[in-house]
Amino acid sequence: MKERVLSGMQSSGKLHLGNLVGALSNWVRLQDTYDCYYFIADWHSLTTGYADTSGIKESTKDILINFLAAGLDPEKCTLFIQSRIPEHAELHLLLSMITPLGWLERVPTYKEKQQELKERDLSTYGFLGYPLLQTADIIIYRAKYVPVGIDQVPHLEISREVARRFNYLYKEIFPEPEALLTEFPKVVGTDGRKMSKSYDNAIYLSDTPQEVEQKIRTMVTDPARVKKTDPGDPELSPVYQLHKIFSSKEEVEQVADGCRTAGIGCIECKKILIKNVFRVMEPIWAKRQELLNSPDTLHEIVEQGTDKAKKVVRETMHLVREAIGLF
Ligand code: TRP
Repeated sequence: MKERVLSGMQSSGKLHLGNLVGALSNWVRLQDTYDCYYFIADWHSLTTGYADTSGIKESTKDILINFLAAGLDPEKCTLFIQSRIPEHAELHLLLSMITPLGWLERVPTYKEKQQELKERDLSTYGFLGYPLLQTADIIIYRAKYVPVGIDQVPHLEISREVARRFNYLYKEIFPEPEALLTEFPKVVGTDGRKMSKSYDNAIYLSDTPQEVEQKIRTMVTDPARVKKTDPGDPELSPVYQLHKIFSSKEEVEQVADGCRTAGIGCIECKKILIKNVFRVMEPIWAKRQELLNSPDTLHEIVEQGTDKAKKVVRETMHLVREAIGLF
């Protein structure tokens, strides 16, 4: 029996190279070894985006396409959409009965996100409950491992505490989920800051080859290197940071050396990066195109994944109702 892995991604916006290198590629690797459940957390996007839901359907679809384009295989893992499995909400409600408010108020992301998104009213019930809904998402599959970034560790901590409390109050049903932290290279955006859709510096999986080329060509480099004859410091150039992720060892050495000795110009250096980013993106573009042209395939995959997920959650909810003593 393979151990179970579960992870989710919020459906707010498009996916970029940072998401690919940071999360998706790891998910793809895990599908060979574990019994993997991956889903799009569309309810979670409502916790902050409830006032404008106009983009949510498109964004869910785009993420699903990217999941598949990046190599998630519906024959190997279970892919689904959170809102299609209402049992997540049922478990969330039952867990809300046993979760002290203080546990949720103390989660660092609660106040941080409120600060970050000051223009939105996040003094809502749903937003406070974000980590509890995430807990329900995870433990309803009795998942052992949850591949996430370091920012999600406080949420995993809540999940473990709530699972423990349920087990103590009613019956040992839930394993305490563990974060599966993988060391990811940090992907910088075109301006040198962390790649993020809120900084407008991201290269999206849905960008066309022309857009990707344009974005890389206009990337900032070592600001001290004004003329091609000025030697530069590759470590100060975001282009070099991306080379370290996408280029071969030889190429990385070649551009670093060339930069320090003024033996290579920034344009040439960027051309090598463009070639290598294209190599990673070409199969993704091809698969995206194929899926965009066959909406039926997409629906079938979701139906099939939903059915598989439903089997598991029904079993869990049966145990849960019994453990609590509901009629
Ligand atoms: N909070 C996660 C994020 O922002 C998304 C998420 C929702 C999730 N439910 C989950 C991740 C369950 C792992 C497991 O990335």
